[in-house]
Amino acid sequence: MRPEYSERTSEEYDRYRVFPKNVLDKYMSTFADLAELIGGERVLDGGAGTGRFALALSERYKVTALDCSREMIQNGVAKSRKIRWVQGDIMRTPFKPKHVDCVFLAYVMHQVPDFNAVIEEISRICPKLIIVTTDMYRRLPTLIDQAFPGVIEVDFERFPPIEELEGACILAGFDRVRARRILIEERISKGAYMEKIQHKYISTFDLIPPEDYAAGVKKMESILAGIPGEELLNRIQATFVSASKL
Ligand SMILES: C[S@@+](CC[C@H](N)C(=O)[O-])C[C@H]1O[C@@H](n2cnc3c(N)ncnc32)[C@H](O)[C@@H]1O
Repeated sequence: MRPEYSERTSEEYDRYRVFPKNVLDKYMSTFADLAELIGGERVLDGGAGTGRFALALSERYKVTALDCSREMIQNGVAKSRKIRWVQGDIMRTPFKPKHVDCVFLAYVMHQVPDFNAVIEEISRICPKLIIVTTDMYRRLPTLIDQAFPGVIEVDFERFPPIEELEGACILAGFDRVRARRILIEERISKGAYMEKIQHKYISTFDLIPPEDYAAGVKKMESILAGIPGEELLNRIQATFVSASKL
């Protein structure tokens, strides 16, 4: 199930999905550690969006960023010409085997029609894959769970279980497969958090009925009003699945 990114402006996506530097650094150090790269390697960021991770990756690696959305790619091109931007489908890439040293896929597997086909395609072109996703079964609850139960329900349907991703990697011919979780707690002002909600920073907001979204916004306002002070602790959690061939 994939939200229509051309309807949502990619500028909005950029503005409300941005990570603070410490959060981005944690993603990048976890990637480097699991991928066992030393710097200078060729990395493909598949489903790169507007380049939130591609830009950070391009500080250390030679990056190709691929996305199926023309609008996302155009936004990315305007940010960096150091990165090679390609419009295309991660299920059928235009690349030859060994075109890159590592493929990075962040928050894409819940949007593709067949994640097995994606992993098979990556196995064809590259011996190393790092997937970043949400483990719906092991994540800690967040304020979204309280205010938008419908979002959580939809996400349980969308995000493939980690065991299924691991199984698909093994079936596609990867020998070493493991998973690692990260959790970062970020202090954020209530105003900034509410702004993210109002601008639907999570794509699943577009996939629930509008009346459920409106009720959730009201519920969130009352939850925030009950939290003392001007700030709250926002949990950012991710699971990395790493797969490599010996
Ligand atoms: C949730 S966004 C994540 C973007 C980026 N990886 C990030 O974390 O900021 C998912 C992206 O995957 C892209 N996408 C979805 N299905 C795709 C496919 N089959 N091939 C290439 N890109 C795809 C969407 O256009 C969107 O930009």
